[in-house]
This record gives sequence, C-alpha cells and structure tokens, in this order.
Amino acid sequence: MFPLQRNRRLRTNESIRSLVRETSLSPQDFMLPMFVAEGKDVKVAIPSMPGIYRHSLDNTIKEVKEAWDLGIKAVNIYVKVSDSLKDNKGVEAWNKDGLMQQTIRAIKDAVPEMIVMPDVALDPYSIYGHDGIIENGQLINDATVDALTRMSLSHAEAGADFVAPSDMMDGRVLAIRKALEQNGHHNVGIMSYSAKYASAFYGPFRDALDSAPVDSQNIPKDKKTYQMDYANRIEGIREALLDVEEGADIVMVKPGMAYLDIVREVKNAVHVPVAVYQVSGEYAMVKAAAERGWLDHDKIMIEQLYCIKRAGASIISTYFAKEAAVILNK
Ligand code: PBG
Repeated sequence: MFPLQRNRRLRTNESIRSLVRETSLSPQDFMLPMFVAEGKDVKVAIPSMPGIYRHSLDNTIKEVKEAWDLGIKAVNIYVKVSDSLKDNKGVEAWNKDGLMQQTIRAIKDAVPEMIVMPDVALDPYSIYGHDGIIENGQLINDATVDALTRMSLSHAEAGADFVAPSDMMDGRVLAIRKALEQNGHHNVGIMSYSAKYASAFYGPFRDALDSAPVDSQNIPKDKKTYQMDYANRIEGIREALLDVEEGADIVMVKPGMAYLDIVREVKNAVHVPVAVYQVSGEYAMVKAAAERGWLDHDKIMIEQLYCIKRAGASIISTYFAKEAAVILNK
C-alpha cells in the first residue's frame, strides 16, 4: 500500500503520538503492596527489594497517607508476625486483635477512602511456610478453606474493603463469598489470585516475610501442588472463569511480565476487572540492573507498567507504585 499508508506519520512528534496512544497509565491504576511488622517505629530494609521496607503500624500509616496523596487508591497488606504466633493451622490469622486486623482498622481510620485489601493465605502464620494446613506431608484443601474463610471474616469485621485470597486452594472463593453474605458483609469484595503460578519470581517476597517453605522431612519443598505450572495457559483461563462463577469481583494474574499472554487471554475470557501483580522478583531485577547502570530505571519501570496495562490489566499491584506515581504526576 506504500505510499498510501505511511505509518510513521502518526509517530512524527509527541503531540500526535499522544493523540493516538491506545493505553494510558496513571496512579489510580496502581495498588501498593505493603509489609507490616510488629512493634513501634520499626523500619527494616529488605535487602533483595531496595527501597521497600517492613514498617510497624505507625510508619505504615504514614506511608499510606503518602500513597493517597500521590493518587494511589488501594493497598495490599501482608504482615510478618513473630514465630511464637505460628503453628500448622494458622489460628493467629483470624485473631480479631491480630496484626493484620489492627492494621486494617488503623488504615481505614486514618484514610477512610483508601481501599484496603488484606492478603488471605496462611503462609505468614504457618510454621512450615505453606499457604495452608499440612497433614501427612500433604497440604489439605478443605480444612484450609475453612481456615481461610474464618480469616476473611475477621478481615471483613475489621473493615477491609476487599479480601484477597492468594492461596490457590480449590473452592475458597465460593466458601468465602457465602460466609461474607451470611454475615452481612454484602459489600466486601473478593479479589482472587486466580491464575497464580508456582514462580521463582516470589523469592524476595519470601525474604521480606521470612515465609519460604521450611526444608524439613515430610514437608513439601515447594508450592507446586497448589500454585500453577508455568507451562500451562488454558488452566489459567479455567481458574479465572471458575473464580468468577464462585463470586470473585476481580481476578488476578501473577506474576506479571513473563505472564502477559495469560493476562490477555484472561482479559478476553472474563467480564470482571483483571488485576496483575508485578511481583517482588520483577522489581528486584529492575533495581539490580539499574544499580549496575545497565538499564535506565525510570524508563524501564514506566515501560513495564504500560505493557502490563496494554496486555489487559485494569489494576496493577506493584512495588513501584509510589515511584511511578511521582513520575506520572509530573
Ligand atoms: C503468599 C504470597 C506470595 C506472594 C504474595 N502472596 C508468595 C508465595 O506464594 O510464596 C508473592 C508476591 C511477590 O513476590 O511480590 N500467599
């Protein structure tokens, strides 16, 4: 068709490029994942995640206010509790005065409009570092779902806007939805980690929470009996469709960058918003390469976030949320 079509015409300058741009990115696309620690005035650096800290509740509130002022409307909360509170069943997970429940209340109190999405999984409370209950060397599904349901209810009672099950047990979305309804929490939503793959990209996160599976006899060494095989695509779509049927309001694909084919396919298959988690290892890779001067940090950060959006994400959970918001607000 040349010269009738010269595609470079629409790339001539930034004005025309901005007019024809198909995807936009802004701070309200982001959720900020936060690690909460016990104690007061605690700020512990996570070596494999430069710029990210485990904050005690007082400092967490400061950070939530900062995030809100930058235009970020949602936070994902993960807690690190002391070893003395861990067991196999995760009973601390539904303690109404536990660290998570206190955190939810404190954030809703300080910044009521901030959407608070606590993580629902047993790993921060498990002596074995698994997302559920172990019996005879196996992670047992249905008893774990009961525990996750109690945990979700306690989050709702503390004031959570959404609960975010990240455990990959079968049937947990339906069980949680039913329990929320039966207890009058009709407006508490579920963001389900639907297509969550067993990924080495989670390494730095497990450093942050000290939550890696323990190396011990008769304890599964990895999470492959519940998180998905990264070789699988159709299974990811099936998981997302099932979670929507079970009552999920938002479905998530995780990790991000290496899984954008799944993001697009899930986006085309479901009619609910799709969230993507740009996980700890993805963050660490950019930080490490930038520290060596091998990549331009800010450009890579913004490019990746745009590409996640382009692939079909309505919401991106990212450790870059604040840094990216500063750039996008300029
Ligand atoms: C555990 C959980 C993990 C992440 C979020 N929730 C780790 C895992 O599944 O082992 C990882 C997030 C990240 O790497 O940033 N329920």
